[in-house]
Amino acid sequence: MTDPVGAWHRLADTAVLLDGFHALKHAVRFGAEVPVAVTTDRAAALALAEELAPDVRDTLAVLLTEVPEAAYTSLVPRPHPTAVAALAVRPSRAANLERLAHTPRTAPVVVLDNPRNLGNAGAVIRLAAGFGTTGVVTTGTLDPWHPTVVRGGAGLHFATAVERLTVEELPPGPVCALDPEGDDIRGIKLPDDAILAFGSERTGLSTELRARADHLLSLPMRPQVSSYNLATSVAMTLYHWSLTGGAFGA
Ligand SMILES: C[S@@+](CC[C@H](N)C(=O)[O-])C[C@H]1O[C@@H](n2cnc3c(N)ncnc32)[C@H](O)[C@@H]1O
Repeated sequence: MTDPVGAWHRLADTAVLLDGFHALKHAVRFGAEVPVAVTTDRAAALALAEELAPDVRDTLAVLLTEVPEAAYTSLVPRPHPTAVAALAVRPSRAANLERLAHTPRTAPVVVLDNPRNLGNAGAVIRLAAGFGTTGVVTTGTLDPWHPTVVRGGAGLHFATAVERLTVEELPPGPVCALDPEGDDIRGIKLPDDAILAFGSERTGLSTELRARADHLLSLPMRPQVSSYNLATSVAMTLYHWSLTGGAFGA
């Protein structure tokens, strides 16, 4: 690419920042469109690809343009240790809504009801991608495509459908909402088409989400412990789903 810095400036407002080698690797693996990718050391980045991701090495060789360190640091607020950064086209909302609404659904949708912590949201998207879930929906004001969430998700937003919706707009399917006061999840087989809903770090499940819930389920926890962290709750629930059925990894 002749002018990667110019291209970056033209696209930065609307594109998704892929910060670091691993985010770019995952995005490419899962079909992201990457119009610009820069590095301060192309040979080192391709050597890393050779070692860790030979499946995408040739694609990265085409995408990556070497730029001087000053140019690179002017593009990204906190330079990543791998000195790789790229911009990807955000998948269309219409395409994501279609994926989320598609039936029959073979893997759950994870809903984060008004999450507050960007790192938690990123960790959940990474989990959801790893377990092959249909998508991750957030309600409330947090943008699930915020650069910090994408960084926490290691670029795996492109492996699942990530959207912000209202509770009324949630896709169809039985809503299994996780709450310490619910029935013990260990006796339950989670359906593959479940909507698995988790509450906010601060206030738990909203009134609207509770009203929409078909089942309230709890994770095992000894008395006197109030709750688990949001992302770890999602991890346990998806692991439980993978054990009790489901098209894991499909
Ligand atoms: C940090 S907790 C919320 C704590 C919040 N103070 C409350 O009042 O519920 C975030 C979310 O993780 C899930 N969670 C945490 N511990 C859980 C447990 N033992 N059983 C089921 N869900 C749990 C719930 O969905 C909860 O809303």
